[in-house]
Amino acid sequence: MTTIDRAEANDSGILVWMSDKAQPLELSWIWVRDHSEDPTSLDPVNRQREVDTFSLDRTSMAKSVDLVDGRVQVEWTDGSPTSLLSSGLLSSLSPAAPMARPWRSPSELEVEFVPFDEVMHTNAGLRRWLEAIGRNGFGLVSGVPTDQASAQSLASRIGYVRRTIFGDMWTLSSEVVEHADSAYGSATLEPHTDGCYSHDGPGMQMFACSERTGTGGESVMVDGFAAADVLRSMDPDSFDLLTRVSVPGHYIEAGIHLQASRPTITLHADGSIRQVTFNNYDRSPFLLPAAEMAAWYNAYSAFHELLVDEASWWTHRLEPGDALMFDNWRCLHGRLAYTGTRVFHGCYVNHEDLESRLRVTA
Ligand SMILES: [Fe+2]
Repeated sequence: MTTIDRAEANDSGILVWMSDKAQPLELSWIWVRDHSEDPTSLDPVNRQREVDTFSLDRTSMAKSVDLVDGRVQVEWTDGSPTSLLSSGLLSSLSPAAPMARPWRSPSELEVEFVPFDEVMHTNAGLRRWLEAIGRNGFGLVSGVPTDQASAQSLASRIGYVRRTIFGDMWTLSSEVVEHADSAYGSATLEPHTDGCYSHDGPGMQMFACSERTGTGGESVMVDGFAAADVLRSMDPDSFDLLTRVSVPGHYIEAGIHLQASRPTITLHADGSIRQVTFNNYDRSPFLLPAAEMAAWYNAYSAFHELLVDEASWWTHRLEPGDALMFDNWRCLHGRLAYTGTRVFHGCYVNHEDLESRLRVTA
């Protein structure tokens, strides 16, 4: 467990040495007052801020800084309530090691099917499934009863099913005719992400197989983060262009015209990849100045080439009882052509609900 070793004041705030870090944290006075965990500043249950940040005196100074019961305790010269900072608060400031392990070949993956009953009835089983999704971008469950309600209850172990124009749970098969989408056919589908036409593209997607006959129809997963990392090192200018050019996507059927736009690769503030959005089927018209347009096609094609490199695909034929949940912000999904019957229950779940479930499932 991380503990606070030492805390001392300097001119602008406090230096705090944590047991797991060589360098001290530098906390300015205003930050300390804004983050105090005393009960007048922070609700201890929901961790919502009670202190009025904007009325704090941003020039106030500490009278004393001490370590008391493992916490930093700060008394103020202006008589404000004593500020308290715990080791839990301070250790949460260091980003956790990323769970994601980018993969460019299925040989780099450790893939397991977690039994449905274990996911549904034990935290350990749920945790195994969640960690696989966090690590590989997708996770598998076996033995799922083939009715739609069971598929929905499986998805609900992570979070509520997100309702869209397709409903909450939907059926994916070549027999479904109410949606004029390329997904509802039997031809090969190139790797893509869903919901390019949503401003907040669905974070997670699940397919639970309920019927299967015939040949082919393997599901394809490709790690978009790993492909983007390769592009970044191979062709930094193209990578940069794909992070800057916003690409629109649309979904059109009778009475519906959804459209949204975002760069193919979006980044966190620290430069790490946040989301990949790539669906050439759904891309809607946009125009750049001619030279930049040409450069964009080159960049987009270079990324596409990485995504369709079959050596980087994990392919698997899902059978009745198998469910695949994947991170739609990271892994692109595709399908090989098939014959016969191939019926999936599908749904979307929000990304933040996966993250939340990971935080609360021991
Ligand atoms: Fe799709």
